[in-house]
Amino acid sequence: MQRIVITGATGGLGMALASLLDSQNNELVLVGRDEIALRALNESLGSKHQILVADLASSVDLDKLAEQLFKQKIDVLINNAGLNEFGEFADLPPAMIEQMFQVNVIAPMKLTQALLPSLLRDKATVLNIGSVFGYIGFPFYATYSATKFALRGFTEALFREYKDQGLRVLFVAPRAIATSMNDARTEAMNKELGNTADSPVAVALQIVQALHAGQTRQVIGFPEKLFARINGLLPNIVDKAILKQVAVMRKFAKK
Ligand SMILES: NC(=O)c1ccc[n+]([C@@H]2O[C@H](COP(=O)([O-])OP(=O)(O)OC[C@H]3O[C@@H](n4cnc5c(N)ncnc54)[C@H](OP(=O)(O)O)[C@@H]3O)[C@@H](O)[C@H]2O)c1
Repeated sequence: MQRIVITGATGGLGMALASLLDSQNNELVLVGRDEIALRALNESLGSKHQILVADLASSVDLDKLAEQLFKQKIDVLINNAGLNEFGEFADLPPAMIEQMFQVNVIAPMKLTQALLPSLLRDKATVLNIGSVFGYIGFPFYATYSATKFALRGFTEALFREYKDQGLRVLFVAPRAIATSMNDARTEAMNKELGNTADSPVAVALQIVQALHAGQTRQVIGFPEKLFARINGLLPNIVDKAILKQVAVMRKFAKK
């Protein structure tokens, strides 16, 4: 049994992770911004877990959350909460750039830093939920891609910095998942482009396998896994493939 903190616990992937990790007899700390949804999730799991309410876009809430977690033993911190906005970069309200960085990058970094003494003491694992867009800069997801690239860089550096002290820092990068993060436009675009959206339950299974195996990096899904590698070595090849799809993407990206 491990004590596992899950942020974004009431989201599509968060609930699937909570349910799977609960079924494996772990003790969970479910973190979310909607207290009613958190209570309902906890009830569905037998009301045996802790819930903590925090809006990760608020630095006051983030500090309070870190304080609440600081004194607790944590075996795994899953930074799962995330925010996305599909559309033309020109149309994105500037405040959304800040909010996406706050929730997707700054919150996981500040939470990890605040808990670091206890994470190191307990030889814990930090599992950051990335995205294949953290390997491939995707048109109409410029800000989201930037946040997931940043989260990947943070994960890799931290893994290398603390490996010799027993801290495990992992990055799992799913492709599209069928959750409410993807609106009807995104679903329609993925359908037209032939992109697969995995079920949250299937993704949660792969994430938990990576967690048990201590796998430092994992991209979920084929051919996305291959494209991520090619993009790292020969990005101009991936440019060509993506540029062919831009007209279709633009059609759906317009509000
Ligand atoms: N869906 C995909 O296609 C996809 C693909 C690759 C990676 N991912 C990543 O997977 C993770 C989970 O996403 P999902 O698909 O489960 O999406 P989701 O259903 O929209 O869940 C996102 C979670 O993040 C939480 N969140 C958003 N803003 C927050 C804030 N300001 N403070 C606290 N929590 C906040 C949401 O809280 P509420 O429950 O209160 O809304 C929700 O629980 C994210 O990191 C995402 O980037 C998703």
